[in-house]
Amino acid sequence: MPDQTGRTIVITGAGSGIGRAAAATLAAKGARVILAVRDQQKGLAAAAAMTGRIEVRPVDLASLASIREFAAALDEQVDVLVNNAGTMTDSLHHTADGFELQFGTNHLGHFALTNLLLDRITRRVVTVSSSAHRSAHIDFDDLQWENRAYKPFGAYGQSKLANLLFTAELQRRLTAAGSSVIAASAHPGWASTGFRITSGNRLLDTVAAVGTPLLAHGPDGGALPTLLAAVGDVPAGSLAGPSRFGGVRGPATAGEPAAHATDPQTAARLWEVSERLTQTRFPLATRSAVPGRANDDSGA
Ligand SMILES: NC(=O)c1ccc[n+]([C@@H]2O[C@H](COP(=O)([O-])OP(=O)(O)OC[C@H]3O[C@@H](n4cnc5c(N)ncnc54)[C@H](OP(=O)(O)O)[C@@H]3O)[C@@H](O)[C@H]2O)c1
Repeated sequence: MPDQTGRTIVITGAGSGIGRAAAATLAAKGARVILAVRDQQKGLAAAAAMTGRIEVRPVDLASLASIREFAAALDEQVDVLVNNAGTMTDSLHHTADGFELQFGTNHLGHFALTNLLLDRITRRVVTVSSSAHRSAHIDFDDLQWENRAYKPFGAYGQSKLANLLFTAELQRRLTAAGSSVIAASAHPGWASTGFRITSGNRLLDTVAAVGTPLLAHGPDGGALPTLLAAVGDVPAGSLAGPSRFGGVRGPATAGEPAAHATDPQTAARLWEVSERLTQTRFPLATRSAVPGRANDDSGA
């Protein structure tokens, strides 16, 4: 990795797991790293174990008020934003604003954070997704799981598919605005971290809990795709992930999301819904039409 001196990098969920590993590497390479964490003590403990320029700032991605507070306090240039924090739950829970917790935290929280910081971001927005996006779909008639039985893994998959549709639409909007900022994404494969697979299927969850420490790579391995997407040579809109064992572990390489994760109509629809739900908007003025469709974004 090239020297990162002079860059400021914000990483959400950097108090543990992949976010913490990525933060430690970037700080050791000279970047000033802001650990955006919901648990200040955990963040401070993580920072104490790193070398370099590190700051810990509080943000709860399950609260729009907290995200607004974080963004308002960060009144400076950010070179790279890494939307890494993520949650998986085994039953229906809600954010402070009443959104289903996984969709609300993993997608809507990062959607709002990105829009609120975007006019200060100079290089990249990286969002950490999952291979769970491949079998997932977005149910626009019931985004918050109000009218059907809750499927924990279905909700997780929806949130991780939303991460990629968000990246695709963000990149289209950045291009239309004439911005040189790149939107990219990463998936860690299978990493042994604080993350617990809670699919709702007890057998599968037990196999995952036993198999993870034996078969998965550690947080450092899981952070490689994030690092590649954040500071490596990757195309806009790409999905970085492990290159071995069917994308489960190993060195990182840039690949592509599943076709349905970049569908322009679905991505645009999700963007519009997400703007309405979070009351945040793409902040850059649009210079040309978004390729492939009429565009009336004013950037207001
Ligand atoms: N591990 C894997 O195999 C795997 C596979 C596919 C995708 N991923 C993705 O990788 C990313 C990192 O996960 P990980 O494996 O490093 O798991 P992890 O160790 O559990 O880290 C997740 C981080 O997200 C933070 N977080 C959760 N809810 C939050 C909220 N409301 N506000 C702010 N921060 C919040 C957690 O904070 P606390 O420490 O306070 O809980 C934690 O630091 C996630 O997006 C996950 O979906 C992981």
